[in-house]
Amino acid sequence: MKKLFTLTGFFSLLWIISCNYTNKPNLCTLDTPWKFKTGDDLSWATTAFDDLSWGTIDPKSVWEDQGYKGYNGFAWYRYKTLIRSTLRDQKRVTDSLQIRLGKIDDCDQVFLNGKLIGENGRVIYGEMNTSGDFIKTHGRWNLERRYVLAQDDPRIQWDKENLIAVRSYDHGGPGGMFGKTFEISLTGLRDYLKIDLAATPFIFSGDTLVTKEFSMINLTGTEHFKGELVVEAVMCDNDIRIFSDRSLIDLAPHSKVDKSFSYKTNVSSPALLHVTFKEATTREEISEIVEVPYILTPESPATPRINGARVFGVRPWSPFLYKVAATGHPPLKFRASDLPEGLVINPENGLITGSLKKKGEYVVKLTVENQLGYADRDLKIMVGDLISLTPPMGWNSWNCWGLSVSDKKVRQSADAMKSSGLIEHGWSYINIDDGWEDTHDKDGNILANSKFPDMPGLCNYVHSLGLKIGIYSSPGPKTCGGYEGSYGFEAKDAMNYATWGIDYLKYDWCSYGKIAPDPTVEQMKRPYQEMKHALRKANRDIHYSLCQYGMGDVWTWGAVVDGNSWRTTGDIEDTWESMSSIGFSQWTCSSSAAPGRWNDPDMLVVGWVGWGPYLHYTRLTPNEQYTHITLWSLLAAPLLIGCDLNRLDAFTMNLLANDEVLAVNQDPLGKQALRVRKTDDYEVWARDLGDGSKAVGLFNNTEKLLYIPVEMHDLQLDGKWSMRDLWTQSELGKVRTHFEMKTRPHGARMVKLSQPD
Ligand code: GAL
Repeated sequence: MKKLFTLTGFFSLLWIISCNYTNKPNLCTLDTPWKFKTGDDLSWATTAFDDLSWGTIDPKSVWEDQGYKGYNGFAWYRYKTLIRSTLRDQKRVTDSLQIRLGKIDDCDQVFLNGKLIGENGRVIYGEMNTSGDFIKTHGRWNLERRYVLAQDDPRIQWDKENLIAVRSYDHGGPGGMFGKTFEISLTGLRDYLKIDLAATPFIFSGDTLVTKEFSMINLTGTEHFKGELVVEAVMCDNDIRIFSDRSLIDLAPHSKVDKSFSYKTNVSSPALLHVTFKEATTREEISEIVEVPYILTPESPATPRINGARVFGVRPWSPFLYKVAATGHPPLKFRASDLPEGLVINPENGLITGSLKKKGEYVVKLTVENQLGYADRDLKIMVGDLISLTPPMGWNSWNCWGLSVSDKKVRQSADAMKSSGLIEHGWSYINIDDGWEDTHDKDGNILANSKFPDMPGLCNYVHSLGLKIGIYSSPGPKTCGGYEGSYGFEAKDAMNYATWGIDYLKYDWCSYGKIAPDPTVEQMKRPYQEMKHALRKANRDIHYSLCQYGMGDVWTWGAVVDGNSWRTTGDIEDTWESMSSIGFSQWTCSSSAAPGRWNDPDMLVVGWVGWGPYLHYTRLTPNEQYTHITLWSLLAAPLLIGCDLNRLDAFTMNLLANDEVLAVNQDPLGKQALRVRKTDDYEVWARDLGDGSKAVGLFNNTEKLLYIPVEMHDLQLDGKWSMRDLWTQSELGKVRTHFEMKTRPHGARMVKLSQPD
């Protein structure tokens, strides 16, 4: 009888072992289906609760993809698993057990055997108030969940069944668990000893020298780590090791060792950097591999070159401000012949100002000259109703400074836009996002808060540099950051903006959701119509940027409310998942883009970003950043740099100052690229350009090197075409029926196909 019981015990034990110990005794993966139910009941956290009737769900993707489309609110996940003591068969720093649960959108509470072990996240709009204290202070939907317990924590049942229960709440959009890493393990060397390569970018000096600084950090207060550090750089194209260095490292508890190395290479050739630490007593290793950025954009020539938009829209009587963007060895002299009456050009800096009274079209010949030569080009001025005939290019404060934006930071950004030379590649807006507002005064005038003591002065300053300035508000009573919105003050606000000298308004739905919960498309349009009328009365050309995350397929009606651009998605983050899922989803709205009417897949996440006040270097790899800029250029997307312009490194400048790539974004035809081929591994997008040529982007969505084939009939091209690599600005020869291009992991190639002369 006793034996029988043991056997039954054994089988029931087998049945509950849902986690997979793979072939590593110290790792148990939790990525098999979990039990799942929508709704909310705290008894679901307990081991006594029977979840037999529940459905199952794959934790690796959000519930929207698994039969719960459109569901927002609470849902629970449950997973029963044996936690074996073999997990402890590790060598160093095994004091804690960690449970990794991928990511959870938006927020979660996690229970082990009925006891709360941690929580993360917050809901911006406060609905969570109804269910107690489950509210945190930061948006955490994209954060890797890692819950850590001391080994002897009584909540852990070693060698017994354990129940992990996750209470999640989603406010809107995708919901629930997703991500890559679902596992239970003991903490180990890799959790306490960090190779921090992300703290500073690679530095390039000239065409050949690469320098990198990084740190080794001992996070424990008790362990002393000694061992060997091996740093190697290996070329991606031929696996040749171009740099190797070995050194001994001695890291006392809670200490940091800074390292730096330099090597000579061709900075345009991709390489991988391997950093490995071999711990002396146990020989355990931890390592990091990162892509070394590689610079493709050639230096601008010393002879003059005119960049930026070739067509410019202005309304009659509005102040005219167009800066002729030009590179070349200074000093440059600017001229414009056939300027219509009412306009003048400043020969020193290329600023065209004034105003035009009548509707009509003018073609002006621009000339830029220096000691080495001259360049000329036509600029078409269209005086009519439509402005922003090419997508706006500029900077916005949100992705770097978040709500910590201030007058000083805005002025510094404007200065940097000029001193970095970006202004000479066509970048022109300096946009203040949320965080500048105070209240409306008794006369209904919107006041700026103490961080912005002199709005008109700030506008004048930005204009004096040849740049334009933008601002942010919400049609609701409050902005997303909780500041004063425009609700009830639309006309007054528009008038104030115009009087200050504002050139761009981002108008963000936010708390309008409280005025129109569950809105119909007509209700979605209403607040945008209202501000449209207000702006039109203000007699200033203010780019009108709708921000409501694509609700109600805004691209089908954004033009009706006079939007010059409209956000098509939620907020971008500096991760591959976020950037690529937003960028590659834009085929749905391609046909809606036209001059003056742009789809906006959100701002750029290159350089130092962080949503303020603390910044980090973008987590996108160099290849992913090439994809980002290539795709946004093909998509005719507004290009709003989201990083700290005062910390532009050589690689970021290379991304933002490639005039041939930017010319695709600014193409006067205003056609957004279409996706012409998609496989599981790659995508090809193509865009018709005003001169009869085609810009084509090849995108590798895998983590391996790919040779991407392109069929000319997919591009609807017959005959012989000349192909030019836009990133390297070099000719690639002729092509007739197909071509193939080596494309790096998560990377892109961008070419222009033109009819041979
Ligand atoms: C979000 C918007 C962001 C930023 C933020 C400010 O709704 O999508 O781009 O403007 O509000 O609070």
